[in-house]
Amino acid sequence: MPNLDPQALIIDTPQTHHYLVNKRAFADPALFARELQEIYGKLWLYVGHDTEIPNPGDFVTRTVAGRPMLYVRGTDGVARVYLNTCTHNGAKVCREEFGNRKHFPCAYHGWVFDCDGRAVEVPGEAAFGPQFDKADQGMIPPPSQASYRGFTFVSFAQRDDLVDYLAGAAQYLDILCQTSAAGMRVLPGTHLYATRANWKMLPVNVIDGNHFMPTHVTYLQYLRERGSEMKEPIRDFHEAHLGNGHTVFEYEAPWGRPQGKPDPAWSDAVNGQILARREELLARLGPELGDRIARRNRNLVIFPNLIINDIMGTTIRVAEPISVDHMEVTAWQFCPADDPPELARVRNEQFLTFLGPGGFATPDDIEGMEASQRGYACYREAPWINYSKGIAAELAGGFTRPGESDFMMRAFFNAWRDYLGMQQFTEAA
Ligand code: FES
Ligand code: FE
Repeated sequence: MPNLDPQALIIDTPQTHHYLVNKRAFADPALFARELQEIYGKLWLYVGHDTEIPNPGDFVTRTVAGRPMLYVRGTDGVARVYLNTCTHNGAKVCREEFGNRKHFPCAYHGWVFDCDGRAVEVPGEAAFGPQFDKADQGMIPPPSQASYRGFTFVSFAQRDDLVDYLAGAAQYLDILCQTSAAGMRVLPGTHLYATRANWKMLPVNVIDGNHFMPTHVTYLQYLRERGSEMKEPIRDFHEAHLGNGHTVFEYEAPWGRPQGKPDPAWSDAVNGQILARREELLARLGPELGDRIARRNRNLVIFPNLIINDIMGTTIRVAEPISVDHMEVTAWQFCPADDPPELARVRNEQFLTFLGPGGFATPDDIEGMEASQRGYACYREAPWINYSKGIAAELAGGFTRPGESDFMMRAFFNAWRDYLGMQQFTEAA
């Protein structure tokens, strides 16, 4: 081991095959405050998908980096995001999670806003004086908002182009959205659960191929018992840093996927629909891309906290930072708009049984994340998390199997450190 400076945030010494992250990254409230400022106060952050609000007046409310947000489709058919705070005395205006409204009355003093963000009623308006004009009192949008393939992001800073920020991740959103010629949509309804762990644990868990076999042994056992074909190992594996801290882990798994890989556990009717979807993908997109979408799984992390698992179902998740050791996770299912009912049922079951809060994966992942968080209380005495796996293989020309490398964690933490502007706290010999 090199001589380690316990004040360093990251030890990056490839020549000795070391990449160590200080547990402070997950446990120090001062660093969490800096993350809120430098990451959550500046980067593009996911709000929702525009298929959640298809009609004028449709809305959902969200919390993004602690701010209440209203995502609503206007009378002109355009979906927009507003800060969900009254321009009178600041109260949160819309307190419902979703619905359809032309008007949003603020419960505190009765100001009313419409679904185009305008203030349309101000009780006692004349008493504000002749300078007051309610046309100036509309709901305030965040400094930046933009959508890509219906995925809507905001930033609390003035931001450049969203596509530039998405970098190589945009291509993976393209791939995902080409799953069906009829388009993809978010199913109504969300999962929401809280975890006593730092927000970074969720993206790191998703890109950590090392944890799957030990942590999800119960799910693998379940797949065997339900009759899934489990002889083949994970194969055709690829992982990449897509720029700006976004990462992807792509592979073919032995179990089926309702986007195009049948499974013996499913009925002949469902597998027939899956094969039809595969044939349609090959015909529409060609043998290479069609087969890739049909057969391979993708775990995509868009920095900092948007996670899309296009696996046995397709799940969109966001890890909202609450405090240094507490996050709230919201999850949605994303699926083809034209699924036959039997296939939609299988897809929904996959979503619930694996990544649902009571499913096979999520409770086990939470246990691993919360156990880590408890261990990180020792960060002063035992500071180092070891993400060195695979450096030697990388230097020698690459690695080919999942679980052989912490490459993606290194990409994530390099970006994290750069966004925080803390390069000086990296020790590199
Ligand atoms: Fe909304 Fe006063 S705070 S009407
Ligand atoms: Fe997991």
